[in-house]
Amino acid sequence: MTVNGDLTEAVRYNTETFNGAVASAAISAAWQIGLLDELTGDAAVDLGDFAAEHDLHTPTVAAIAFALSARMIVDLDRDASVARPGPAFAETYRTKGLYLWLTGGSGNIFTALPELVSRQDRTHRRLERDAATIGVACRDVARTLLDPTVDELLADVTFRTVADLGCGSADRIIALARRHERARAIGVDIAPGALAVAGKAVAEAGLTDRVSLIRDDALDLGAHPGYAEVDLLMSFLMGHDFWPREECVRRLRRLREVFPRAGTFILADTARSSDVRGADIPLFTPGFELIHAVMDQYLPTLAEWDSVLAESGWRCVERRLVDPPAFTFVAKLVPA
Ligand SMILES: C[S@@+](CC[C@H](N)C(=O)[O-])C[C@H]1O[C@@H](n2cnc3c(N)ncnc32)[C@H](O)[C@@H]1O
Repeated sequence: MTVNGDLTEAVRYNTETFNGAVASAAISAAWQIGLLDELTGDAAVDLGDFAAEHDLHTPTVAAIAFALSARMIVDLDRDASVARPGPAFAETYRTKGLYLWLTGGSGNIFTALPELVSRQDRTHRRLERDAATIGVACRDVARTLLDPTVDELLADVTFRTVADLGCGSADRIIALARRHERARAIGVDIAPGALAVAGKAVAEAGLTDRVSLIRDDALDLGAHPGYAEVDLLMSFLMGHDFWPREECVRRLRRLREVFPRAGTFILADTARSSDVRGADIPLFTPGFELIHAVMDQYLPTLAEWDSVLAESGWRCVERRLVDPPAFTFVAKLVPA
């Protein structure tokens, strides 16, 4: 403890920084081992019993819960053997996909950051992210944070064939195929890891007859007979890959040619932040921007997106903002 007010604040910020970093990994792990789900609905979880039931190392489970308690995500009883949801639990649970994206999906980048920031060293270093884990993380982000808005924008859209560019886990097209019994769906992704997760999910849903998965580059799509049938086009959380600006205009225009029947295009992505500083920088924003900076991936702002869409061959009829993740938009486009 210190009597100096400023120093106390500095110590507090610093403690939150360190303990927050540990908690990020703990949140991802707690979700993956089923502990977060067990804690939903105000449940009290005996950590020893939970570890035994799931064949887990009890001291590690206890330490994960302790790390979560440092950020008020769980409350622990006196001897730290029973965990209950804490004041931050519900919001953490809602955003758990962002943590898994950060630690599980992008962790290798953080480990290699000193090399990746060196202009010389980075040329020898392969940028490895875990596409399968990113797929699982994005699926949760989409389900909990994006899909309610997407569903509202889709409410008056009728379609027979939907294509999702950068489909990741294929969760959205599976949901749409379930809801629309006669609809067909095409998931396009470039990453074999994501397609493996998607393929398993499509098979488990018993939808292999109506949902097909194609390995293709959304930025330079090949010829596929199914593309001509697509009347609803979607792309979520990969729009920034279409940039830089001139390329983005060209690529969006090309989608009109590849998908000539697409009457609606739902495009959702997280944009670069603007006008936020210091402690006001929102959840996720610094992680998102740091990872994309390392990967040399340009991130447009919302204003830059607006200016590109105006020239893209598509007309934006509605655009909604979602937060968290901050600076995320869902746009409903129609052919211009
Ligand atoms: C952030 S994830 C989003 C996944 C999914 N759209 C969702 O909302 O859950 C981005 C996905 O786009 C895929 N992707 C990135 N660049 C791509 C490209 N050029 N062509 C096709 N897919 C791409 C990645 O493999 C990844 O599965």
